[in-house]
Amino acid sequence: MNRKHRNKTGRFITLEGADGSGKSTQIALLSDFLATRGIDVHVTREPGGTRLGEALREIILHSADPIDDKVELLLMFAARSQHVTNVIKPRLSNGQWVLSDRFTDATFAYQGGGRRMEVKDIEVLQNLVQGDFRPDKTILLDLPVEQGIRRLTHRGEAVDRIEEQDLAFKQRVREAYVERHRQCGSRIALVDATAPIHEVHEAIKNEIKDLLNSLGYGNGD
Ligand code: TMP
Repeated sequence: MNRKHRNKTGRFITLEGADGSGKSTQIALLSDFLATRGIDVHVTREPGGTRLGEALREIILHSADPIDDKVELLLMFAARSQHVTNVIKPRLSNGQWVLSDRFTDATFAYQGGGRRMEVKDIEVLQNLVQGDFRPDKTILLDLPVEQGIRRLTHRGEAVDRIEEQDLAFKQRVREAYVERHRQCGSRIALVDATAPIHEVHEAIKNEIKDLLNSLGYGNGD
């Protein structure tokens, strides 16, 4: 890590959005950008991010046995608990910035919106696993459902248990994400993911400018 910034506390940034919204590309670009600012970045993902979490991810996304909605929700939070305790918090304490491809807003969107589970049940688990711990900033990459599906189809990868859900499910996921953006105020920034890659990257940089400035990492340009 850059000596000048060694004693600073890390920041926790999450990227959210539908499958096919360009999260992976944007996380890589953001990580490179932060590194050029002398920031030590750890990129991770959910479900996953630890050995146990990655094993649970495999089960959640590819189990041959049926998994009911409640089990899916509990597995998400089991993976998250391990991730928060063993990776995210220790790294933040060490001054690293953690960029996560998805976090709890995804649970509100997919299990809450998509699977129609009770928001209050998700909140109970959120409280159990995280207490007051939340991302410092969340970037929501928003795009019309049909466009996300087209991008996924072009990629031609095998479809998992969640990606195989129908259009109505995906529409509910999008709506639940937008609702999170409305409810969580400035923490969740909505970025138009239909724009070209470099424009989306600029918009994301713009959203984290204040975070960089407040920590003395320059003007974020
Ligand atoms: P990914 O393909 O973006 O890595 O995400 C894996 C899938 O897991 C994606 O379809 C969204 C889903 N998911 C949930 O349903 N709930 C969650 O809490 C998280 C983190 C992901």
